[in-house]
Amino acid sequence: MCGIVGYVGDREAAPILISGLRHLEYRGYDSAGVAVANGGPAEVVRCRGKLANLEVRVAAHGLHGNMGIGHTRWATHGRPSVENAHPHKVGPISVVHNGIIENHIELRRRLENAGRHFLSQTDTEIVAHLVDEALAGGAPNLVEAVRRALALLRGTYALVVLSDDDKQCVVAAKKASPLVVGLGDGEMFIASDVPALIEHTRQVMFLEDGEIAELTRTGVRLSSLDGAPITRAPETVVWDAAQAEKGGYPHFMRKEIDEQPRAVADTLRGRLLVEQGDADLDGFVIDPKQVRRVVLLACGTSYHAGLVGKFMIESTARIPCEVDVASEFRYRESVLEPSDLVIAISQSGETADTLAAVKEARAQGARVLAISNVVGSAIPRASDGALYTRAGLEIGVASTKAFTSQLAALALVAVHMGRRTSRWGRGGSGVNRARALATGLARIATDMEAALAGLADLEQLTGRFAGVRDVLFLGRGTNYPIALEGALKLKEISYIHAEGYPAGEMKHGPIALIDDGLPVVVIAPQGPSYEKVLSNLAEVRARQAAIIAVATVGDRQIEEQCQHVLWIPEAPPLLQPLLTVLPLQLLSYAVAVARGNDVDQPRNLAKSVTVE
Ligand code: M6R
Repeated sequence: MCGIVGYVGDREAAPILISGLRHLEYRGYDSAGVAVANGGPAEVVRCRGKLANLEVRVAAHGLHGNMGIGHTRWATHGRPSVENAHPHKVGPISVVHNGIIENHIELRRRLENAGRHFLSQTDTEIVAHLVDEALAGGAPNLVEAVRRALALLRGTYALVVLSDDDKQCVVAAKKASPLVVGLGDGEMFIASDVPALIEHTRQVMFLEDGEIAELTRTGVRLSSLDGAPITRAPETVVWDAAQAEKGGYPHFMRKEIDEQPRAVADTLRGRLLVEQGDADLDGFVIDPKQVRRVVLLACGTSYHAGLVGKFMIESTARIPCEVDVASEFRYRESVLEPSDLVIAISQSGETADTLAAVKEARAQGARVLAISNVVGSAIPRASDGALYTRAGLEIGVASTKAFTSQLAALALVAVHMGRRTSRWGRGGSGVNRARALATGLARIATDMEAALAGLADLEQLTGRFAGVRDVLFLGRGTNYPIALEGALKLKEISYIHAEGYPAGEMKHGPIALIDDGLPVVVIAPQGPSYEKVLSNLAEVRARQAAIIAVATVGDRQIEEQCQHVLWIPEAPPLLQPLLTVLPLQLLSYAVAVARGNDVDQPRNLAKSVTVE
């Protein structure tokens, strides 16, 4: 996730671009840059790190001009560095981009064979080359050159392009990544999100996928990819500045919950090879024949992702897996061998215990793959390889979209290993199991979207939690880690004590707690343990507890036995956690809001725990 701005008008562009980027810094801040044109060739200023560094550079450079583009980056391809910062300039063409170009390897190879030289590791530089190539190949103007370049791209993009040879116009295009035009009086703006525009105008036009916009001082012209003109009336936004930063949501956490289908789709993009029943782990190859055991290490929510990962890898690749809390692993006399594969999972990539565990694992000769959301952070750097989730910046302290993206990344690892294993299991050969998992993964983002759409406000449920001191979460199989995660979410932001338990263990102790004052959340989707969970549910019911179930759409049997049912679409058991966690995130959010808690910054917690 990156932030994009563009301006064309009569005012100095640089301060407008920088102020716009400041409102978009929540979308990424590992590097930033602007390109500003003043009649002559656009001048580009870029730097690593936060926007404050760019401000200093721009002031020192004395950038002047009335049109320009800017970018604040969240690295996906290429580490955070000056060369990888946007804008990328090739000949007269400057480009900023948010998204992922899936076919970047083949395009880059073709362009290099044609004698073109690359200065960065980004997928974006390819776009600048393609637009430049189209102009050199006879495209009559910038918009046509952009159109020809887009025809060659696969993947997602929000692009804004500036040409030294076109003094009037900035061209933008959108597919799956957001872009909004701001209409001023004698000036036009474009940005990834409304907050960047709101100090200049409240008249906006949201671009749709497959649309191209040409911005001049006096107006905006929209067209489709094949050149057909599009007419759209501007709309007026009424948000205040703080609301705008959260995209109109009251809290970042609520926004991040809704972003999950996109985050998961982005994490799978270009890596999940459905037709081949395979997954490309960004070039990190795992040969299961060389792996004796997989050890997953993490803390908190990432640890819960690891617990689900164990199910995915064991049942798809048939390699034994262990999951360990990093702070326990590092202080035990843990035993690893060079034939062990360690997978370290960390949203921030900075968690002190996970980092120490990675160092210990490598010292013992194990190979380490990091799954992280932050490109170039400490844990990926200390590992042998990294598979980055593409959740985008997560601001809410309670992790949501990073968690489901980690599950998607772990599913990719399972597909990759299953495809290469020679071990057979219940689902047949590894090839068959990998194919089945890949097929399920291909539709999971759509199912998540459907689940979220069906789980409107859970406010009516919060009454059940008023005055409650404890809540029990029960689940089995792949949904036991989700019971743990549901309980953690509730503890973190509502400050209600909650326990996650394997449903089968209830009779071995926790059943003593159950009475009419203890709400019990039972995760009971259709699957191999469904009947067993139903029996557990009956035992809870017999003790008068209020039951809230998470169940598969259309399950009438469960509806009759519970006070409230939160529905999710049908999914294979290995992928159910990506769905069953959604109502639990929403539930904890609703309860925390009803209690008046600070949802995004709960008491005593920090987003990343960089001390022991
Ligand atoms: O950045 P990490 O994934 O390494 O962080 C691990 C935990 O600190 C984190 O998941 C924490 O439990 C979250 N606040 C959970 O919502």
